[in-house]
Amino acid sequence: MEITDIIYKDMEMIYESIKDCFIHTGGHTWLITGSGGFIGSYFLDFIDYCNNNVFYEPDKVICIDNYKTGSISRIKHLLSNNNFQFINTDISKPIELSQHIDYIVHAASIASPTYYRKYPIETIEVNVWGLKNLLDIAKEKNLKSMLYLSSSEIYGNPDEEHIPTSETYNGNVSCIGPRACYDESKRLGETLCINYWKQYGVPIKIARPFNVYGPGMRIDDRRVIPDFFKGAIYNKRIEILSDGSPTRSFCYISDAVTGFIKIMMSDYNGEIFNIGNDEMEITIGQLAEKIAEIVCDVTVIYNKSSDTEYLTDNPQRRCPDLKKARTLIKYNPSVNLETGLRRLFDWYKETLDIEYNQRY
Ligand SMILES: NC(=O)c1ccc[n+]([C@@H]2O[C@H](COP(=O)([O-])OP(=O)(O)OC[C@H]3O[C@@H](n4cnc5c(N)ncnc54)[C@H](O)[C@@H]3O)[C@@H](O)[C@H]2O)c1
Repeated sequence: MEITDIIYKDMEMIYESIKDCFIHTGGHTWLITGSGGFIGSYFLDFIDYCNNNVFYEPDKVICIDNYKTGSISRIKHLLSNNNFQFINTDISKPIELSQHIDYIVHAASIASPTYYRKYPIETIEVNVWGLKNLLDIAKEKNLKSMLYLSSSEIYGNPDEEHIPTSETYNGNVSCIGPRACYDESKRLGETLCINYWKQYGVPIKIARPFNVYGPGMRIDDRRVIPDFFKGAIYNKRIEILSDGSPTRSFCYISDAVTGFIKIMMSDYNGEIFNIGNDEMEITIGQLAEKIAEIVCDVTVIYNKSSDTEYLTDNPQRRCPDLKKARTLIKYNPSVNLETGLRRLFDWYKETLDIEYNQRY
């Protein structure tokens, strides 16, 4: 099975946007955790794209995932590809790797609020122990670059004067609330990174992604965009479990991966970059209406979650200040929300099961 045309076109877009900063000609080895997840699998497809179209010698990739929330079916087209080695393991446990490694991406985590609240300890472990295991590997190898995918959630619930939010904002985060297992462990993860850079010279960079979405997101992921599509596609009904007023700024996956690679290929060790899309800050209510319009004949309803902690510490607004990324790494997101949502819908139409396809 090959990747869909939609994902292949995303690879072309990513390559077009990074080729000027990409001095890489192949023959390197990557270690990518969370390789069966939404963002990790885009990295795999991008390296495969470069192996087939750009590099003189293929890159090799060591792919680590325990499939806690990811899915092997998303990457099954690479399972018999000799340039990819798949290791099914929990990165929170120490691991020994004999190969030389040039690049590390830590994309393993439990990133969907529904699941990190269900597995809070595993979330802390992968964000902190998993990261520390990788930093220890990085310390031993003569690494070129390492990327930690932190999160905009480290900002917690910023007050109005810190919207848009820049990297210098220190955050407003509860250390004991239901979201703290994710937010606080991402914060400690960043502290670990900065100090491995300062103390051991590990060439680590940190990205803080703001609500990335796109093809490859499982429809049962429970984050807001796939959740709204799930309701719209299967029930013709989107249920909002708040008053719909909190805002988010969504970033299409090809823009985000472009930003991540630009950061990785830069010399900004020990630096942090917001990666997102600042074009539109949209309320959750407006997002639901937009998805309803794209899928057609869908009703939007407001309801209350049976989980009394569902909205506890839910950030009211999210919007990135991208000045640093625009200036230093020439990051410039280009896919607007309407286009990105339509691409995701097209991908769902192409990949979802027969029951769904019979309806369209
Ligand atoms: N997608 C976003 O909007 C977004 C926003 C901010 C930050 N991030 C961060 O980016 C990274 C990737 O996010 P994503 O959206 O691809 O998430 P995802 O849930 O789709 O993928 C995470 C992957 O990590 C794997 N994993 C979890 N625990 C593991 C463990 N202990 N050992 C090995 N593998 C493990 C899961 O099985 C899954 O395949 C995460 O660190 C996430 O916190 C994502």
